[in-house]
Amino acid sequence: MAFTFTTEERQEIERILARYPEPMSATIPLLHLAQGRLGWVSPEVVDEVARVLELPRIHVADVVSFYTMFQRKPVGRHRISVCRTLSCHVLGGHEILEYLRTRLQLGEARSGTDPRGLFTLEEVECLAACGTGPVLLINGVYHEGLTVPGLKLLLDKLEGLDAPLIAPGSGGTDAAPGGPANG
Ligand code: FES
Repeated sequence: MAFTFTTEERQEIERILARYPEPMSATIPLLHLAQGRLGWVSPEVVDEVARVLELPRIHVADVVSFYTMFQRKPVGRHRISVCRTLSCHVLGGHEILEYLRTRLQLGEARSGTDPRGLFTLEEVECLAACGTGPVLLINGVYHEGLTVPGLKLLLDKLEGLDAPLIAPGSGGTDAAPGGPANG
């Protein structure tokens, strides 16, 4: 389905464009704007951003594929990014991941979205808080030293909330050095 910016978003785009001498520099802010509403960057969003900025589509598509903060598939209401690097792994990250995969009914998949579209799980590399593992981000917010019972309570609570897709200003995992892991 075609994507177009709303009137309010177009006003925001005007403000964004005023900050940059070159429209190309506004690529990332416009992608964030679209992702903030849609939850991900669809091919139609890429079309629209390229059209608005009068840029080649390939430029916008390259930006989306380069930065891990942009979701290229629909995500659940709450995005959970779990560090899978060694320190967190030995501090309980493995159990956290196993619990999440079971709770989200992901089957054999290492990452993905639960059938209700509430939670999306992804594994990421080091989130730079290695001494307080296991570390995970939920909607861009750090949670450190969580146990499985603690995580269960947190998710139970989140299930009842109509939280934003991504915490305002967090940009998701872009706040952290690690991006989504492959595989
Ligand atoms: S190993 Fe997990 S935050 Fe560094």
